[in-house]
Amino acid sequence: MEQYFIRGGKPLRGVVDICGAKNAALALIPAAILTDEPVIISNLPDVSDINLLLDAIAQIGATVERIDRHTARIIGATVNSYSLNYEYISKIRASYYLLGALLGRFHKAEVAMPGGCVIGARPIDQHIKGFEALGASIDLEDGQIKAQADELKGTHIYFDVVSVGATINVLLAAAMADGITIIENPAKEPHVVDLANMLNSMGARIRGAGTDVIRISGVQKLHSTEYTVIPDQIEAGTFLMAGAATRGDVTVNNVIPKHLESITAKLEDIGCEIVEYDEAVRVIADGCILKNTHVKTLPYPGFPTDMQPQMAVVLTLAEGMSTVKESIFENRFKYAGELARMGAKIKIESNTAMITGVRKLKGAQVESPDLRAGAALTIAGLAAEGCTQVSGIQFIQRGYENFEDKLRRIGADICKIDTDDEAAMDDYRQRCS
Ligand code: UD1
Repeated sequence: MEQYFIRGGKPLRGVVDICGAKNAALALIPAAILTDEPVIISNLPDVSDINLLLDAIAQIGATVERIDRHTARIIGATVNSYSLNYEYISKIRASYYLLGALLGRFHKAEVAMPGGCVIGARPIDQHIKGFEALGASIDLEDGQIKAQADELKGTHIYFDVVSVGATINVLLAAAMADGITIIENPAKEPHVVDLANMLNSMGARIRGAGTDVIRISGVQKLHSTEYTVIPDQIEAGTFLMAGAATRGDVTVNNVIPKHLESITAKLEDIGCEIVEYDEAVRVIADGCILKNTHVKTLPYPGFPTDMQPQMAVVLTLAEGMSTVKESIFENRFKYAGELARMGAKIKIESNTAMITGVRKLKGAQVESPDLRAGAALTIAGLAAEGCTQVSGIQFIQRGYENFEDKLRRIGADICKIDTDDEAAMDDYRQRCS
């Protein structure tokens, strides 16, 4: 099994090029099968979640050609199945966007029910509410969600909770519905806006994405497009946190600074200097004493839950008492025990982490419970004194392209070793003794 091996304590310094946003790409790929015509999507991150979703649409018959590592040409004309294997939903939750896409295109879809996951129960009642409002009948049988409609009709939908997934699924289903659909209380995340922009470039008529009300005037047909995925705000935020935690100086390049504001505001709060450029953001933390702060995760433009573990790691090294309140998912502090083994003073009370800053973390063997927590524990290892071994890195590879290479290029001492490789393990043990 591959693991990360880190010798910590080195400030990270340099420039990191940020990839396309995984969560945007996960919505754009299903959108591509809403038309028979070819759709080219560029700036796709080369991460396992995206590659699995491309496999999933190929499994239902779409033609998928990789033009290069970050570009795919997708042809929906060959789709010949409305039913996605359980295998995919069990590996990649976002394959449930095929429900919205297949329902929108063929008025019929069958996808296995996504279960809960390590970060929480994650119900899909709002997705179902949206599909039913558009006129679909939904049957939940044998773990399958079966959606069917004679026709989809524009309607008024009010979401009871702000849900990225439900907003995206309804956008996909409603783009070609008959008449006007109004979504109230939608998610405003950058990837929701990116999906609306791509659909509009295919001929859809969607207004208001990124605001409190989205208005979709259904069109009969969508057509081909060439579209570039927006930069990944979470990947960028993760590298900024790595710069802050190691008291370094890191610039993230190819980003939209506006999407990073809730993250950079917190870094400024704790004493880091932030410099914004047109398409880059720099965090300067060398020599600075980090101060405590209080963070609450919220839907965009609030502080993202996907940055919560990385922020918590930085706060373990900030003077005084900080709190991190998780208001989106109920089980997102699984990493706290691992951090405590590295010397962090972190206590979880209900949905809040109480963190008392320490001067140093100490290297340890830790296990990633999920994608973002895995990235956070890696940051902790980079900031810690001594050696850290991070297992469960397959979670990190779901969402970060070349994570360890990018970190190495800004000065991290990190390598990926297969623990069955005795020679590599011996070499590492020697370097760490
Ligand atoms: C998406 C992101 C994920 C991020 C999350 C919150 C993708 C592929 N994933 O996940 O990385 O952490 O947004 O920013 O983009 N809820 C319901 N009923 C529903 C749907 C959601 O109660 O039908 C609840 C969820 O349990 C959660 C909250 O709403 O408490 C937000 O979930 P949602 O925005 O739907 O998250 P995802 O789309 O699953």
